[in-house]
Amino acid sequence: MKKVKITGTGSCLPEKILTNRDLEKMVETSDEWITKRTGIKERRIAAEGEAASDLGCRAAEKAIKAAGVDAQEIDLIICATITPDMVFPATACLIQEKLGIEEAAAFDVEAACTGFITALSVAEGMLSTGNYNNALVVASEILSRITDWQDRSTCVLFGDGAGAAVLSCAEGETGILSTHLGASGAYWDLLSLPAGGSLRPASRETVDGRLHYMRMEGNKVFKIAVQKMAEGSRASLQKAGLGIEDIKIIVPHQANLRIIKALAKKLELDMEKIYVNIVGYGNMSAATTAVGLDEIIRKGLASEGDIIQLVAFGGGLTWGAATVRL
Ligand code: UT7
Repeated sequence: MKKVKITGTGSCLPEKILTNRDLEKMVETSDEWITKRTGIKERRIAAEGEAASDLGCRAAEKAIKAAGVDAQEIDLIICATITPDMVFPATACLIQEKLGIEEAAAFDVEAACTGFITALSVAEGMLSTGNYNNALVVASEILSRITDWQDRSTCVLFGDGAGAAVLSCAEGETGILSTHLGASGAYWDLLSLPAGGSLRPASRETVDGRLHYMRMEGNKVFKIAVQKMAEGSRASLQKAGLGIEDIKIIVPHQANLRIIKALAKKLELDMEKIYVNIVGYGNMSAATTAVGLDEIIRKGLASEGDIIQLVAFGGGLTWGAATVRL
């Protein structure tokens, strides 16, 4: 099996900023409540007509440039998203077309907020067999389109954005050291978008019932999130034969600052070793860990040779972690 290395990353955040003060004018909420309960101050919102493939494409271009590969050398594209441009074709195919890459295999994975880590794990598996050489893994979300802007319990939490990484086969000790993925379908109804699929196709009733927006039982998800992210982190470390002290920095999914702090406590890790950007972006589902990975590299918080870990949790319920030597 070949080793697989992350050779370049990129991200793209829409320009428009929606602040907590703006939300105060839309629903019965307050900057104080949102800040205290979630750690979020503002989030980015995609422009009208901008789709997941547009943000994903811009993030991908930066990742390809950082990796120093020719786009035509990419032979596998995987996009993680719960907000595809359309139900089908796959957003990965639309990104392929926008990037002008010919014939690379392209498909989407859907594991909600765990999507980027899941896509990394799939890409790593496919590259390690030697059947593919260079993979582009994109996570792109426009959650503002599936957010119920009348529901204060969810609309304050989410934002739009995209992140991408190029993965290539490599020699030596660097690369993806281990991944660990898990799921519990028994909890599917804690976090879902009820209509628009084969179970409840779009109808006047589903639109009137606001069933095309995300629904979440926040505090039930909260407790499971902390437990499963901690377990996922430890499992990935164990597979890699490492201890928590070996990690330079962890990029956790950013759903709630209180979840991140509870995770740090469970892992007995100083908050300085945990990357936090929730204040400016909110929860961008699959894109969160992808953007975080790009930011720690671009800010110099981790560099070549450092061991980092991504850990996430989301609808499904799904969870996962990836331990990587950059
Ligand atoms: O990314 C996928 C994974 N997602 C997550 O991990 C999300 C996990 N859950 C959470 O982050 C938190 O549960 C929330 C941020 C969603 C909610 O925080 P909470 O501390 O669990 O609040 P709560 O739902 O228990 O609500 C507490 C109170 C309620 O009022 P009462 O019943 O105590 O009178 C809510 O109605 O806060 C009220 N509330 C709000 N008040 C002002 C809920 N949303 C708001 C709001 N502004 N936006």
